[in-house]
Amino acid sequence: MNRCVVGLQWGDEGKGKIVDILAEDSDIVVRYNGGANAGHTVVVGNDSFALHLLPSGAIRPGTACVIANAVVVDPETLLEEIEELDRRGIGLNGRLFISENAHLVLDYHKKEDRLREESLGKKKIGTTIRGIGPCCADKAGRSYAVRMGDLRDLAGLQDKLRTVVEYKNRIFAALYNAEPMDASVIFEKCKSYAEKLLPFTLDTTAYLHGALADGKAILFEGAQGTLLDIDHGTFPFVTSSNASSLGMPSGSGVPAKMVDEFIGVAKAYTTRVGAGPFPTELDNEIGQFIRDKGYEYGTTTGRPRRCGWFDAVVVAYSVAVGGIDSVALLHLDTLSGLDELKICIGYEIDGEKTAFFPANISKLAKAKCIYETLPGWKEDITQAGDFGRLPVNAQNYVALVEKSIKAPVKMIGVGPKRRQTIFRNVHSR
Ligand code: GDP
Ligand code: IMO
Ligand code: MG
Repeated sequence: MNRCVVGLQWGDEGKGKIVDILAEDSDIVVRYNGGANAGHTVVVGNDSFALHLLPSGAIRPGTACVIANAVVVDPETLLEEIEELDRRGIGLNGRLFISENAHLVLDYHKKEDRLREESLGKKKIGTTIRGIGPCCADKAGRSYAVRMGDLRDLAGLQDKLRTVVEYKNRIFAALYNAEPMDASVIFEKCKSYAEKLLPFTLDTTAYLHGALADGKAILFEGAQGTLLDIDHGTFPFVTSSNASSLGMPSGSGVPAKMVDEFIGVAKAYTTRVGAGPFPTELDNEIGQFIRDKGYEYGTTTGRPRRCGWFDAVVVAYSVAVGGIDSVALLHLDTLSGLDELKICIGYEIDGEKTAFFPANISKLAKAKCIYETLPGWKEDITQAGDFGRLPVNAQNYVALVEKSIKAPVKMIGVGPKRRQTIFRNVHSR
């Protein structure tokens, strides 16, 4: 059985937790998009792991981990992660495979990301400054891109870096009046990346097709979320990859038809970090209540996340665009204690009602939310082991979510730990 887990909102939905749970009966976990902008938290007992580039299956010692072709790899972050897991007794030798076609995020990408954001002032995207945009731009531009496989030809790479860094330095000086970078320093770092990372590097497309032929169970792990997808999200306030499930085939070299179930992850409310439209945002004490109770601070940057009501228009869109079969609804416990809850079931734009999300920010800017209001619940639900033990108001809340997103909710999160997950055997609609 092959499955794909993908975010249905603006990231941080809890994909890491769901991937870690599903990894138990998967042979291989594959990251297929994004880079170290991702921050996936996995809580195991009293231990917590924050993963940025390693697939969340890395925590389980028997699981193979693939970083596929469309991931943009920051070798420094990856090595830190490998070393950190090693210190904690989790080895990756022989079970981590990095695509030779994955692009490298190097120091000049991170510098360019920071300088551009600073220069944009109020118009900035609010990126994670992990060099994602500049690296993906170099990938699309082709001539100045560096891939994992280039680490095999150090003489060729040295030559290329001289040209690329000279080009970048001209941009830094002309546009930002910034200090130049030294190509030889970047090259020396690359030599050490080559030594440490080439043993993990191979043709992951061939590896995955071999695994499919052997009947292995593969779990694909999306980073970010559908609304951050460069083609289908709230452009330009998006990331630079296909962060919806549509990125999975091109990002891994495995066709979507090989996947038996696309599982979308959503929070029982909405969060977003960085700039951009957010129709259900609660810039008030309820938003602060959610932020405090759900500990809504970024795993990668520590930034406070913007919080708001559950937007069913957003999630229904992600379900439709992504071909989502079932949904994991997390952080239901975070909503305990609120008197009443709202779910946005439609927008009114220029006097017209719509339930289909307009991925066009000028239209979205005019959207007024149409809400359904439900009574809340006061009980602590963090120990509720099955759906029937949830307060009736919580059950009704989940039922309205399902109805308005047109997908069955098969998993419900009532806390960060593995066992704080309710599994439901509901049928697809
Ligand atoms: P990801 O980027 O989608 O993997 O999500 P993050 O790890 O960035 O953020 C999700 C946060 O919520 C993490 O700190 C998780 O440990 C936590 N979490 C996941 N599911 C639940 C849940 O059902 N309830 C609570 N309270 N926390 C959860
Ligand atoms: P996970 O995988 C939440 C957001 C940034 C910014 C925009 C562009 O943990 O869900 P970038 O650095 O990618 O150029 O930033 O995208 N962003 C995320 N938000 N979760 C993430 O990943 C994100 N990765 C990028 O905050 O708004
Ligand atoms: Mg995250």
